[in-house]
Amino acid sequence: MQASLDPKRPLIATALRGRPLPLAFVDLDAFDQNLARLLLPAQVHGKQVRLATKSLRCPALIERAVARSGGLITGLMTFSARETLLWAERGAADLLLGYPLAGPHDAQLLVQANRLTRAAAMIDAPQHVAWLAAAARAAQVQVPVWLDLDMGWRPLGGTHIGVRRSPLRTPADVVALARLVAEEPFLELRGLMGYEAHVAGLADEGRLASWQNPLKRWIKERSWPDIVVRRGQAVQALRAAGLCAADGSWACNGGGSGSVDRTAQDPSVTEITIGSGLLVGHLFDGYRGLDLAPSLHFALAVTRLPGVGIVTCAGGGWIASGSAGADRLPLPVWPAGCALLPVEGAGEVQTPIRLAAGLQLAVGDVVIFRPAKSGELAEIFNEYLLVTDGVGGAAVPTYRGLGWNAWA
Ligand SMILES: Cc1ncc(COP(=O)(O)O)c(C=O)c1O
Repeated sequence: MQASLDPKRPLIATALRGRPLPLAFVDLDAFDQNLARLLLPAQVHGKQVRLATKSLRCPALIERAVARSGGLITGLMTFSARETLLWAERGAADLLLGYPLAGPHDAQLLVQANRLTRAAAMIDAPQHVAWLAAAARAAQVQVPVWLDLDMGWRPLGGTHIGVRRSPLRTPADVVALARLVAEEPFLELRGLMGYEAHVAGLADEGRLASWQNPLKRWIKERSWPDIVVRRGQAVQALRAAGLCAADGSWACNGGGSGSVDRTAQDPSVTEITIGSGLLVGHLFDGYRGLDLAPSLHFALAVTRLPGVGIVTCAGGGWIASGSAGADRLPLPVWPAGCALLPVEGAGEVQTPIRLAAGLQLAVGDVVIFRPAKSGELAEIFNEYLLVTDGVGGAAVPTYRGLGWNAWA
């Protein structure tokens, strides 16, 4: 699985020698292969697919996936109001801001986006309704709204397994908030999202702390019925209360790259979100039955030879967000058998690596790494070099290269 395209790495490393480093590249063969794999369950079960922009942050790659999806990818899930407006200005057709508004200003940005396209807001609190309603009324613009149902698993009293998302957990919770939306003439309820992060985001065979793997697999298996039942009950309750759009445009979103096979089988779900599984940051390794090929990499130049068996590269300290731990560090993957030094890790200005026994590298040689997460590297590099058959071609701008700051 993970190593299926490895034979190309020496080729690529040679091709990159002499280019200005560091650089980031995307193996398009792997990218397209991952796309086909991730779309398959949706195809089989008659679902649509939404692409999580945060997990790519490179418009050319996002548009490539949409164009090659055979019509299955019908929309984008954005991650901030400003980014949503940038996509609306670029002409995207169906946007869903997958996270709550940060204030009235965000509501205004969404209203602006809705002057150009359909851009839905995700809500889980009366305050979100108030901000949106005020902005939509002032502009006399109709704004689609979705409810975020929390899918965390609570098997016993006080335990909560999963991420901390929405306070909406029961059918009564979603119906109560949906009624507030229904009172607002410029808001229309269009969908419900229930993102099962504790299934989609947990690898079955994590590389580090592998003693936790059986527990993770148990959580995924045992929590699944709760997910299907609660998502279904929430949709049913909204329907029974007459709060779902009656024109067939009602949608229920679930899942992520790590759960496509399961989520596609949930009868309440109409669309599945995918993203990280296209570029496959190394945190996406180790999902059983999900054969994905790493496509996003970065290359560093060896700039120093500080001791026997160790070389030091320029740059590299691009640590992924989340619960801080060794799994958030980039992973050296070429030459094979290299490893970071635990005491120094991947640094702000330099990253030393220990070489496999007997291997020698010279100043100017190339070391290839994989980032831990799929989207965040696009905030470091201006562009991604596109590689096909091990040969570099065009470079495409990332959000950073386009000057897209999602937050400001
Ligand atoms: C709301 C939501 N849906 C789906 C996903 C899954 O995205 P990916 O496929 O990139 O893991 C995420 C990721 O964090 C998310 O926040």
